[in-house]
Amino acid sequence: MADLILGAQWGDEGKGKIVDALASGYDFIVRYQGGHNAGHTIVANGKKIALHLLPSGVLHECKNVIGNGVVISLPALSSEILNFPNLTKRLFVSDRAHVITPYHEIIDRAREKFFAIGTTKKGIGPAYTDKIARNGILMADILDEKILREKLDFAYENTRLLTKTFQSDEKIPDPKNVLENLRSHINTLKNFVCDTVDLLWDAIDARQKILLEGAQGSMLDIDHGTYPFVTSSSTIAAGASLGSGVPVNQISRITGVTKAYCTRVGNGAFPSEESGDFGRRVAHVGQEIGTTTGRARRVGYLDLVALKYACRLNGVTDLAVMKIDVLDNISEIKMCVAYEKNGEISTKMPLNLQNVRPIFEEFSGFSGTFGVKNFSDLPKNAKIFLEKIVDFTGVRLSFVSTGASRENLILL
Ligand code: IMP
Repeated sequence: MADLILGAQWGDEGKGKIVDALASGYDFIVRYQGGHNAGHTIVANGKKIALHLLPSGVLHECKNVIGNGVVISLPALSSEILNFPNLTKRLFVSDRAHVITPYHEIIDRAREKFFAIGTTKKGIGPAYTDKIARNGILMADILDEKILREKLDFAYENTRLLTKTFQSDEKIPDPKNVLENLRSHINTLKNFVCDTVDLLWDAIDARQKILLEGAQGSMLDIDHGTYPFVTSSSTIAAGASLGSGVPVNQISRITGVTKAYCTRVGNGAFPSEESGDFGRRVAHVGQEIGTTTGRARRVGYLDLVALKYACRLNGVTDLAVMKIDVLDNISEIKMCVAYEKNGEISTKMPLNLQNVRPIFEEFSGFSGTFGVKNFSDLPKNAKIFLEKIVDFTGVRLSFVSTGASRENLILL
């Protein structure tokens, strides 16, 4: 049996906190897509912990899996592992996951000059490109130096051609040096590499509980997001099965995580964006700075059209609304309830969000949500705000986060 937690917006919704809150009820926590472009922040005992590749379950007793759908930077993973000295027999890395090399980072930087997606420049897109082109490097390959050397030689030639296409004059490191630099990381990682699909099937047979942990958000999905301003993986529920090997019919509860407002990092249309007083205040109070890149996040009102779209795409059964306390003491709050495009008003998601005008509904503000632990103790206007989200999406509300730390969470 498996449950799933995923982002219902453009990422940075606070998935890590929900996984952290639930982790103790599961035997396995599994990351299934993305790479170290992700940043999951957990505040535990007053300490801020940022995870990029490790599943949020490393802070608990359970076992942790990095699934086949993840792309792995060996230096990024090995340095994260060194922060957690007790991961032996608790961390399992798929032998089918793909490796991000320094070549992918060079290509990412070069492509950005042409396409300006606003990527994290971590080599994510180019690593997935190689996977689909069938010349990627698997984690299994790091255990066989001959194969790894051959694949790095190919990657070097490939990078030379691509950087020429993108008119980049960045120096391309020799494959021998790349291999040399990877050696110590390979030593740290090699004992974690295994067949995680088999491991998870055994867990299912033994009736153990699995929690699948999404990275980024539904609107960044390669197929269903705001293409081309998306990440290169399948961030929606279907991607959880692809990227872990857990069969789709094993996944029951699907929790979609949304903030009480919207943020987006990188480029691309964002209909409910608000860069005036509301946006500045929320960015400041909500500390809307990227965990991975330190970039300021763009802020906007909650977009219910996009949220409902995400709920349908993912088959969301439960909603988690995060950071409602950030909206405390704002006199008027809006939510986007429809889009106008070319004179037509619709609640459907168009192929392209360019030139979409948001239609807002206004709500009276509230104060005093910070630290509230029971739904009944929330101020009346906060309840009206939350009820609108439930009515619009048709999904039950299961969590409301009322502050950054672990204990500031309402469980419904
Ligand atoms: P990439 O994943 O680095 O290729 O970046 C593609 C797009 O996804 C960019 O707009 C990034 O800002 C965005 N993105 C990637 N990872 C995250 C994340 O963890 N949170 C929010 N946005 C992300």
